[in-house]
Amino acid sequence: MTWMFLLGVACSGAWICPKVKAAAFIRRLWNEPKHTKILADMSVKHAKPNFSPSQVSEIMKRLYNLTPSEIRPLPSYDDQNFYVAPSEGGEYVLKIMNTEDSKNTTIIELQTHAMSFLHQNGLPAQTVVPTTSGQLMSLEEMDCGYGCQKYVVRLLSYLPGVTISKVPLTPKLLYEAGRMAARMDEILQKMDHPHLSILQRDNFIWSLSNILLLEGYMSVLDGDPLQKVMKSVIHQYKNSVFPKLSSFRECINHGDFNDLNVLVQPDDNNGYKISGILDFGDMSSGYYVYELAITIMYMMIEHPDPIEVGGPVLAGWESVFPLNEDEKDCLYLLVLSRFCQSLVMARYSVKLHPENEEYLMITSRKGIKILQQVWELGKEHVEKVWFQRAAQFNK
Ligand SMILES: *[C@@H]1O[C@H](CO)[C@@H](O)[C@H](O)[C@H]1NC(C)=O
Repeated sequence: MTWMFLLGVACSGAWICPKVKAAAFIRRLWNEPKHTKILADMSVKHAKPNFSPSQVSEIMKRLYNLTPSEIRPLPSYDDQNFYVAPSEGGEYVLKIMNTEDSKNTTIIELQTHAMSFLHQNGLPAQTVVPTTSGQLMSLEEMDCGYGCQKYVVRLLSYLPGVTISKVPLTPKLLYEAGRMAARMDEILQKMDHPHLSILQRDNFIWSLSNILLLEGYMSVLDGDPLQKVMKSVIHQYKNSVFPKLSSFRECINHGDFNDLNVLVQPDDNNGYKISGILDFGDMSSGYYVYELAITIMYMMIEHPDPIEVGGPVLAGWESVFPLNEDEKDCLYLLVLSRFCQSLVMARYSVKLHPENEEYLMITSRKGIKILQQVWELGKEHVEKVWFQRAAQFNK
C-alpha cells in the first residue's frame, strides 16, 4: 500500500500499522471512485475478511493438504494475512483478500503473475503455492458474521526479513534499493500476459503522469502556505515535464517501492541486503524514471538528511539502467510531484475522515518539511548534490 508518511509511528508489534491503515484506506477510495461513499461509510468494515484460526486450518488442509502447527496473524488493513508453519515443514503466508478486491480475479491473476515472473528472474518476490488441484487461487465462500461472502485465498511463500524502515539507510543500502528497483522494472518490462492492458490505468491518482488531477483537490489546502508550493510544482511540471514525456522510456511500474514494501536481511558484511519486495497493488503502465523518483521520495522520508538520499539511489539505479538527458532533467520535479501526491491525498483523507487526523498529520509533518526544503534549495542545487554524489559512488 502506498505512500503514507509514517514517521515516528512505530509499526512493530502493532496489529495494524497506522501508515498501512491510512494508505490502504485511501487506495480503496481511489480504486473505487464511484463507490467512495458506500465504501467509506459501511462496507469497508465488512469487506475485510475475518477468518478464524480453525477456518484457516481447515482451508490449509482442504486446499493444500498441509497441517498447520503454527498460525499467526500478520498485519494488513485491506486483507487478512496469516503466517502459517505446517508440520510438514516450510513457512507460508495465507492471504485472504477483501471482498471488494476478490471481485476482480483478473487483477489478482496479473499480480500473481508479476510476482512469480520476478521470482523466476531472481528477484525476491513471493510466489504462489498451487492448491492440490493446481489452482493459483481459490474463491472461498465464507460467513464472517455478515452473511456469506466470497474471498479469494492464495498461499504465498514467506519471505524473511524486516521492513527497510527499521534499519539505518546507509549509502550502500540506498544504492541497493536503487539497483533493485531498476532490476525490477527491467524484468517487469519483459513480462507478457494476455491482460497486460488493464495496467493502463488512465485516471490512476498515483501515476506520476496524472499530476494535473491534483488540481481538483487543491482546495483541501486552502489557507495553508503549502498550497503555493504545490501549485508551483504543478506549474513547473506542466512546463518542463510534459514536453519531455515522449522521450521517457516506458515500462510497467510497481509504483509503491516504499519503506514498508521492501524487506531487508543482514548480509555478510555487517550491512543489509534486500530480501523482499511486497505489494503489487499499485502496478501500472508508466516510465522507468517514475519508479526511481518514487524510490527516492520514500527513502528521503526515512532518512535523517534527506538530500543525501538521491545520489546513492541514483547510482544504484544507473548501474542497471542509465537515464537519458530528459529523464535526468525531470527527476527533481518528479520527486517533488510524488511528495505532492502524498500530501494532498493525506489532507483529502483527513477532510473525509477527521477521525484519522491525528496520525495522518503527525505522519505527514516530515514530508511537508522535506518538500519545502527541497523546493527552496532549488533544482540546480539539489541536482548538483544528487549527481555529484552519484558520480562519487561509482568511482
Ligand atoms: C477488472 O479490472 C480491470 C481493470 O480495471 C477491468 O478492465 C475489468 O473489466 C475488471 N473485470 C471485472 C470482472 O470487473
